Amino acid sequence: MVVEIPEELLVSKPGQFFMLKSLQDAFSLRRPISIHQVNKQDRTMEFYYEVKGRGTESLADFQEGEKISLQGPLGHGFSVVKDKKVIVIGGGMGIAPMKYLLDDLKENNEVTFIAGGRNQDAIEILDFFSFQKLRAYITTDDGSVGMKGNVVTKLKDLLEQDSYDQIYVCGPHGMMIAAAETAQEKGVACEISLENRMACGVKACVGCSIQTVDGMRKVCHDGPVFDSRKIVN
Ligand code: FES
Repeated sequence: MVVEIPEELLVSKPGQFFMLKSLQDAFSLRRPISIHQVNKQDRTMEFYYEVKGRGTESLADFQEGEKISLQGPLGHGFSVVKDKKVIVIGGGMGIAPMKYLLDDLKENNEVTFIAGGRNQDAIEILDFFSFQKLRAYITTDDGSVGMKGNVVTKLKDLLEQDSYDQIYVCGPHGMMIAAAETAQEKGVACEISLENRMACGVKACVGCSIQTVDGMRKVCHDGPVFDSRKIVN
């Protein structure tokens, strides 16, 4: 979905999210959806989401020109570094927020991107990505595209061969934890996005509370992006 936004929303950072709701749908709650891309020149923001419930179904029914309710930007996004060697990892729907992050990082860093999913369909989102100015690897569980295997196997390979300063991960929880453990073993800083843990998105419920080494934290407010060393599995 491409949304025209007011100028003040251009400050939105990679990894942050918005609560979206169709104005035609009086019954559904707003849905938290991460930013896929911000286009500063034409003042638009893109969201890429999976239709899997009433809220996202009504978003998918949108017609061109219709108005939408947007609340955000919310949460803490990824820390965008400079002059570093970084690895960005997206798994399945977790690939979506990495487009904006990659575009921000590749201007001033040496960037390697690993994207993976179950099969070809799970990674069709990559059709919307530009692979200029970055090194990219694709993995699928069934080997239908790219390397057969998963993103963590590729991450291990890369960390064996070279040293990196920072890793960013978004995807299924188990994959993120495995990637974070791999990063920690090698002493590389790692940020993970726990966005799939959110419900209301605005600190109004307890649905997103998680245990961290600093006590309980709310994913929608203190995250969704966290330093992986802070997370208690
Ligand atoms: Fe409700 Fe965070 S999602 S408090």
